[in-house]
Amino acid sequence: MERKLKCIGVLTSGGDSPGMNAAIRAVTRTAIYNGLEVKAVYRGYRGLITNEIIPFKTQNVSNIIQQGGTILKTARSQDFMTVEGRKIAFENLKREGIDALVVIGGDGTLTGARVFSEEYNFPIVGIPGTIDNDLYGTDTTVGYDTALNTIMDAVDKIRDTATSHERLFFIEVMGRDAGFLALNGAIASGAEAAIIPEIATEVDQLEELIKNGFRKSKNSSIVLVAESETTGGAMGLADRVQREYPLYDVRVTILGHIQRGGSPTANDRILASRMGHAAVDALIDGQRNIMTGIQNDQIVLVPFSKAIKNDKPINQELLETLRILSI
Ligand code: F6P
Repeated sequence: MERKLKCIGVLTSGGDSPGMNAAIRAVTRTAIYNGLEVKAVYRGYRGLITNEIIPFKTQNVSNIIQQGGTILKTARSQDFMTVEGRKIAFENLKREGIDALVVIGGDGTLTGARVFSEEYNFPIVGIPGTIDNDLYGTDTTVGYDTALNTIMDAVDKIRDTATSHERLFFIEVMGRDAGFLALNGAIASGAEAAIIPEIATEVDQLEELIKNGFRKSKNSSIVLVAESETTGGAMGLADRVQREYPLYDVRVTILGHIQRGGSPTANDRILASRMGHAAVDALIDGQRNIMTGIQNDQIVLVPFSKAIKNDKPINQELLETLRILSI
């Protein structure tokens, strides 16, 4: 018979995202409110293996809701991908008396959780924490809104100089293999276009832009490019324009890790708080192998298998909006 739920472990793993701390706070406080113990695991799955685990009280999560990054540190653990590594992790969890885990992270984190929970029949609930917004089954992920706002601020600034010099800028944003940051970043900052991996293989997006004379009535142009081999990246596209259309005065900005930092927006803090609360409630309810999600402003529970396996589709309406508004 399974042990009654007494102690919950919490960790963050993979790329950090703004709002992770708000989620850690919500998990810790909801668990304590319900009479459970909380143990914090440092450095993600790596810390499970190296046994970097300490008890958390409500004070441990004071004054963190407004901080970006993760107070628990994070890592991408190669050892946890091995059978031997996961065995040590399980033994440490047993020794520490942890009965269930809440893991906060992206695709890789949930994949690790799924493998581990199946191997050891161990209850795990995931919270989608990634700026990429690439998890199926949730409208948005913790950190995405903050990253979008960071992109918007940066593009607003670049536009000032782009307009002054009448230049074409390619601005590369993160997202791994997903175009959500590029597409919505472009709409939010009034950019002329977004080049995203989801449609990069279907059409030559650059060719389309040039053909449609995307610069004809403007004194500057800004194109957001999702980092990805499929799009060719901002550098690749700029090189091509320089070669094929030498009249354009082209510049490139790669926003990089600035997109991962900063104090979380209100939206991200609220999302993380709701998801942290829901994750603990789900464990108390006997649920496992699920991720908390949000759909139409309602918290939902999505099986790991769905969240990981399915590709989250791009909303075609957004592409159309961007296209129309950039005439
Ligand atoms: O998944 C979050 C993310 O920021 C991606 O957008 C990006 O491709 C990747 O992590 C960068 O990872 P790292 O910080 O390890 O270079």
